[in-house]
Amino acid sequence: MKTLDDLDLKGKRVFMRVDFNVPLDKERRVRDDLRIRAVLPSVHKVLDSGGRLVLASHLGRPKGKVADEFSLKPAAGRLSELLGKPVVLVPDCVGPEVEKRVSLLKEGEALLLENLRFHAEEEKNDPDFSRRLAELADIYVNEAFAASHRAHASVQGITRFVPVCAAGYQLQQEIEYFKKVMVNPQRPLAIIVGGAKVSTKLGLLENLIPKVDYLIIGGAMANTFLKAGGKEVGKSLVESDYIETAQRLTDLANKRGVKVLLPVDAVVSEVAEGGADVQKVSIDRVPGEAQIFDIGPQSVQVFESVLKECKTIVWNGPMGVFETAPFGKGTFALAEFLGSIGALTVIGGGDSAAAVRQAGAEDKVSYISTGGGAFLELLEGKDLPGVSALEECGKRQR
Ligand code: 3PG
Ligand code: MG
Repeated sequence: MKTLDDLDLKGKRVFMRVDFNVPLDKERRVRDDLRIRAVLPSVHKVLDSGGRLVLASHLGRPKGKVADEFSLKPAAGRLSELLGKPVVLVPDCVGPEVEKRVSLLKEGEALLLENLRFHAEEEKNDPDFSRRLAELADIYVNEAFAASHRAHASVQGITRFVPVCAAGYQLQQEIEYFKKVMVNPQRPLAIIVGGAKVSTKLGLLENLIPKVDYLIIGGAMANTFLKAGGKEVGKSLVESDYIETAQRLTDLANKRGVKVLLPVDAVVSEVAEGGADVQKVSIDRVPGEAQIFDIGPQSVQVFESVLKECKTIVWNGPMGVFETAPFGKGTFALAEFLGSIGALTVIGGGDSAAAVRQAGAEDKVSYISTGGGAFLELLEGKDLPGVSALEECGKRQR
């Protein structure tokens, strides 16, 4: 795979696929700019080298139709602020107007194309659309790690039609950290998994159980494991169809000598609302009418006592309904703890990443991945189409 450092960028039209699929607030302002800040080193590199930068991204799922609510305008605004100079948003991503604007770009200037998914051909990985995007590029750069699990035109198809492909710095870094934690990690290695459902983490668990020393499970998905172990969890969310699966995964872990840790206490209530009647109970005493919305303080202690012995820790998925005030304590405690220890700590998935930032531990953990689905697919042991496409393109260039 070529990188930005291998190329002469001066005067070249650099088509950089980024992932500015960022959360917006009600006023359509960028609520979390991690994914925009993450690509700044690559953007600066191109601009400082005299490249002519064409940025392209998707936002949301507009399903092939133009819709103002999915415009990249807020992202263009935030990028302009961060760069300290205006980045113009071009109203489309292909067509004569776009071609003209790109041809008028001066060295060291950047523009942002409008949402790629306003064209249904993007998600269909349409060859003709891929070719039209490629016509805007002397060099193609994938700097969209978080979208690299999608075999879409701007991520995969385009690489067949451009003269040169390269990986952006952020994409490179994501892959480096992934390798540090998964290929020859320093041991003990722990994975902390949370979130609502076992079903969405099944591939991850199956792939990682044979690789880790500790598996720590929190969030509502722990309920299904607790149930499999014979515990009563009241009215908590349980995936009944996955109780056997949870048992099978526990058996697999036991057979492999992996220590599985589940919550030993919980924060329960009848509703997940701030101001609700909240109780801390031992996991053997969850009231029949109650639901578990967070791990309790003893669970935090038990988890920490194991984690402090670990040299490598990967975390994906919150420990509870952390968005709602009384139920965030477990998740935030864990985030703070991970920021306070010397281990290599890698966090991925939008929720856990947001929790780490809210806990003020962003600069204290080793790395926060920009990926949600893409990070998950790496942990599932899958190849990412966007990364494979760069490798293929690299082979053709040799
Ligand atoms: C993400 O946020 O996971 C990426 O931007 C991909 O978006 P998608 O799930 O809509 O393809
Ligand atoms: Mg997604």
